[in-house]
Amino acid sequence: PENIVSFIENDIVKGLPLFNKKVLITAGPTYEAIDPVRFIGNHSSGKMGFEIAKKAASLGAQVYLVTGPSYQTVSHSLIKRIDVVSAEEMYKEVHNYFSSVDIAILSAAVADYKPKNVATNKIKKSSNSMSIELVKTQDILASLGSIKEQQFLVGFALETNNELENAQGKLQRKNFDFIVLNSLRDKGAGFNHDTNKVTILNKAGKTKQFELKSKVAVATDIVEELKTLLNKK
Ligand code: CTP
Repeated sequence: PENIVSFIENDIVKGLPLFNKKVLITAGPTYEAIDPVRFIGNHSSGKMGFEIAKKAASLGAQVYLVTGPSYQTVSHSLIKRIDVVSAEEMYKEVHNYFSSVDIAILSAAVADYKPKNVATNKIKKSSNSMSIELVKTQDILASLGSIKEQQFLVGFALETNNELENAQGKLQRKNFDFIVLNSLRDKGAGFNHDTNKVTILNKAGKTKQFELKSKVAVATDIVEELKTLLNKK
C-alpha cells in the first residue's frame, strides 16, 4: 500500500505549480549563548515560516526549512527540516543549500547581536550589576543578496515606525526581490500571534496591503505573490 500511495503522490506532484522548484526557508528565533544555561533570544514562534513551508510543499516544491528553536511541527515528504540554535549555525546551513535552490524566503528572527565571549561555566552572581559585551552576528539575508544569481530572494521586516520607508531601504540595500513588512503597531501582527497583517513591497516599487488574517492565509498570499512574480521572470 505504501508503494501505491507514494506512486500516486509522485504522479500528482508533477502537475503542481511549484513542481521542480527548490525553496529554502528560515524560521523561528535564534538563541545566542551567554553561558551553558543562559541565552539571548526573542519571542518568535516560527509559525509564519512553517506555514510558508507547508504551503510551498503543498504546491509541489521541495522545501529546506532551516529553523531556530521552535515548538512548531511539520510532517511532509517534500519538507526537509534542519534544526539550528544560533545565528552562526543558521548562516552555515543556509549557505549549504543556497546555491542549489530557486527561491529563498528568510522569515527567521535572527539575533542581530551575540555575546562576544561565551562563559564555559555557569556565571555566578556576585556584584549588583553586570554587563555582557555583544558583537554583531552575520546578516544572513544580506550575505545571500550579495552572492545571489538566478535565485529569487524574499526578506521580512518587522518595524515599529517609518515602516514603508525602512522596508524599502532594506529591500534595496540587501538586494531582495520582495519584502514582507509587518508593523508592530498593527494589533494581531508579528510575533506570537496566530494572525498577521502584512504589506508586500517589490523591487519595482509596488506595494500591496493585506488585511489581518490567519498566518495560514498570509502564507498563501506570500506564495501566490511569489508565483506571479516567478511567472513574469
Ligand atoms: N536577517 C538575517 N540575518 C540577520 C538579521 C536579519 O537574515 N543577522 C533577516 C531576517 O530574517 C529578515 C530580514 O533580515 O528577513 C530583516 O531583518 P531585520 O532585523 O528587520 O533587519 P535589519 O536589517 O537587521 O534592520 P534593523 O536595524 O531594523 O534590525
